[in-house]
Amino acid sequence: MPDNLYALGWQILTDPDLSALVRRAYTQGVVLDTWMHGDWQAEIVPAAQNQLAQEAEVLAAQIRREPIAGPVYPFSFPYLTHLFQAVLTSMALFRVHTQSQVKCVSPQAVTQARDTLDHFAAQEPWGLRAVLRVFHVIWSFEDLNALCYFRRLPRAEFLSGISHRPWVQELLADQLSLYLRMGLVKEWLAGQGEMLRLTPRGQEVLRELTRILEDSGELAWRANQQRWDIFRILDYDTVFHAVLPDYDEVTQTFLDFRPRQSGMQVLEVGAGTGRVCVDMGLYQQVLPGGQVLALEPSPAMIARLQDKCTQHHITNVQVIRGHAEQLPLPDRQFDQTLAVAVLHFTDVEQAVQDMVRVTKPGGWVGALLPPPEIDVREIPMVALWLRPLSELAEEWGLPFSDRNGLAPGRLEAAFRQSGLEAITLWPVPMTVTVEDPQAFFALGVKGAAIFQHVLARLPYRERGHLLHQLEQRGKELVTQTQPEEQRHIYYGEAIWGQVPQDP
Ligand SMILES: C[S@@+](CC[C@H](N)C(=O)[O-])C[C@H]1O[C@@H](n2cnc3c(N)ncnc32)[C@H](O)[C@@H]1O
Repeated sequence: MPDNLYALGWQILTDPDLSALVRRAYTQGVVLDTWMHGDWQAEIVPAAQNQLAQEAEVLAAQIRREPIAGPVYPFSFPYLTHLFQAVLTSMALFRVHTQSQVKCVSPQAVTQARDTLDHFAAQEPWGLRAVLRVFHVIWSFEDLNALCYFRRLPRAEFLSGISHRPWVQELLADQLSLYLRMGLVKEWLAGQGEMLRLTPRGQEVLRELTRILEDSGELAWRANQQRWDIFRILDYDTVFHAVLPDYDEVTQTFLDFRPRQSGMQVLEVGAGTGRVCVDMGLYQQVLPGGQVLALEPSPAMIARLQDKCTQHHITNVQVIRGHAEQLPLPDRQFDQTLAVAVLHFTDVEQAVQDMVRVTKPGGWVGALLPPPEIDVREIPMVALWLRPLSELAEEWGLPFSDRNGLAPGRLEAAFRQSGLEAITLWPVPMTVTVEDPQAFFALGVKGAAIFQHVLARLPYRERGHLLHQLEQRGKELVTQTQPEEQRHIYYGEAIWGQVPQDP
């Protein structure tokens, strides 16, 4: 009976643990967001493909043997096999895309995905069925969200998954029959053949699914992952300088406020490709005898930074992987700890606290940041160019841009709360230009920061289309606007504070 099924689905959906379960899944590498594979698809070698099929059968058999706790939808063996194959493929691809420089999925990557899945299931009271729960939240969101976004879809197109999840077609017929039985989707015959659309009940379920993904942090996490994926393939140094032409100068002013001396130990947090510690010569300022420790979470950035050190025979820059919020370092080690264009990507209070912890008493902690609450629509060409993104953000009740700076006062408050003294904060003018629209697009739209929260909610194919259209539109607009409409001076923030001396 559809109503019983709907009631059951609603009961599962409103389980207060569901958001926490989704969070546990993605933080442990159980990634089911098929589109998360990024702009390119790693090849799956034939041996890995066979292994995926075998592992999926084993898991499907295993889940059928597990004692059933709570309400379940009766899944067939082929359905479960396809489901686990898609889950493992998704996890292996995600891992390959984000955690290594390897460009193909090997049997080893499949084994790692299986181990991750087993580890997750072993900790969950629902065992492997926890994976089914997460799967239904994520993929039902993708399906219903696509139907909502496109307003209506031909049945054949929905079943091909071409618009929204092309890697898991086998499951779509079963999913659709479930949605129809639950009254979430309506089908009707139109001139073009059978069409599908969401019912009011489907809209309600989609709102609930969106809320779960928001509460679990999943949508924000997606946005971040997508950003990282693009950072990996971006020619960061070139685009950074094209979009922020005076940023080296601005950085220099920040650095000069607290000069370094020979013999100093300096930590640069979020060192990226080494623009500050290598290109701007920070490492030379502590010679002889001094050291720079460059900490960075992104393996792609680290690889470029290390290449630069090798190329220039630099021996006093050591590179380590890590995050600002949890520095893998002992207390009181550095004379200076600084972060340039990084803290707005972090939990700033936590990050500043840890930067203070690793700095010697009497040492200095400094940060340079983009403007609080930057709105790139202040560049007239951008307002025109990115209107489709503004409209989507407005429709979904989201801010136009995300991660675009900290709220006013937050940086200074974080410095004060962490006990720093002699704090100096000053506004620094910095130019942002879209004269090279491709560079701005790569850094500002596809990459660094600011629109992934909107893009993360678009069905897979539409995201690609929209990005392509916007890229073309930028190339046209730059020829139709004046130079003064293509740039704007924003005010960022520079800050230094001193770690108190021991009493
Ligand atoms: C805009 S880039 C700045 C790189 C470099 N500091 C510069 O000025 O050229 C931001 C850097 O912060 C890094 N990052 C992002 N989240 C971070 C975190 N939680 N902790 C430390 N670094 C982070 C990114 O990987 C990226 O390399």
